[in-house]
Amino acid sequence: MQNFYQEMWSDLSIRSFATEKLSQILEREKLLHNSVNEYAEIVNEMAGMNKAAVFSHHDQLVSYFFGNPKNVFAFKLTEDRVEELSAWLSKMPTTTFEKEVKNQNGPLFAPRLSTKGVMEQLDQNLIPFSLTNCEVIQGLHKEIRSNISEQIGSPFAFINTRAWVTKSLSNEMGPNAPHKDGFLPGHMKIMVYLTPMSAEYGDFWIEGEQITGEKPGFCIGFKNSDLLHSGKPGTKYPRICIEVTIMRTLQDNKQSHDSHVCGRHFLNVSSAYENLIKQKNCQDMLVEELLANKKTPEATSHAKAGGA
Ligand SMILES: [Fe+2]
Repeated sequence: MQNFYQEMWSDLSIRSFATEKLSQILEREKLLHNSVNEYAEIVNEMAGMNKAAVFSHHDQLVSYFFGNPKNVFAFKLTEDRVEELSAWLSKMPTTTFEKEVKNQNGPLFAPRLSTKGVMEQLDQNLIPFSLTNCEVIQGLHKEIRSNISEQIGSPFAFINTRAWVTKSLSNEMGPNAPHKDGFLPGHMKIMVYLTPMSAEYGDFWIEGEQITGEKPGFCIGFKNSDLLHSGKPGTKYPRICIEVTIMRTLQDNKQSHDSHVCGRHFLNVSSAYENLIKQKNCQDMLVEELLANKKTPEATSHAKAGGA
């Protein structure tokens, strides 16, 4: 049975109105860029009201048509997927936050943490993997999408995929201390654990609740900038996890760019619609694409999705 939001979105005039509003938001963002072209300047804009307003208006637009997502939810990956991810990650090279933060290319906002010594401390406690976009990541995203569509309630874009090892008995700092991520509006995170969730291997804490006693493949999705959360290092063994960031949108999108170890989210909302804009080479055609969006496989997954 269709819910209220699905019924509303199936109306062509509603989608037409939504895409017109989306175009206005993307146009405002484009105007913002005309005065700031350098990466460093766009990063400065991220702390300003104008950029925050673009993300906020986009999120309000999505929520208007699709309702709000669940605050927090859990699911499990198949055993085959866990085996595949573990074998793949064991062959991936590792890197450091200090090294990766110097690489500021790509569509992601990857700021250097300003507090003195924080990058060094991160590298003392965590070992990040250097990941390029590949079929294994796309396969993981596909399985995640099929598990979370209902909880997210709207279409969404995959933004960044990171993986790291948390050393046992590491310090309570950075992601290992209670915090909110402080992302601009519209984002959520999905944590995938490849080691058991236990005191010995490490687990997760969110809003006063310890998430533990789960097998490898356990995943938790949550509003990372609204809910207080913390990784918990193991007392005996390293904890291995993958973190996937998504943004709620009007159109599903894959992650077609490489991930960034220090990446938070896109610098620009328009990046979430870039594949469509590129394909059509014209923003007007994006509107046309969204209006015609009825029978694609990705859209079909949302036909099953709930709203608020
Ligand atoms: Fe966090």
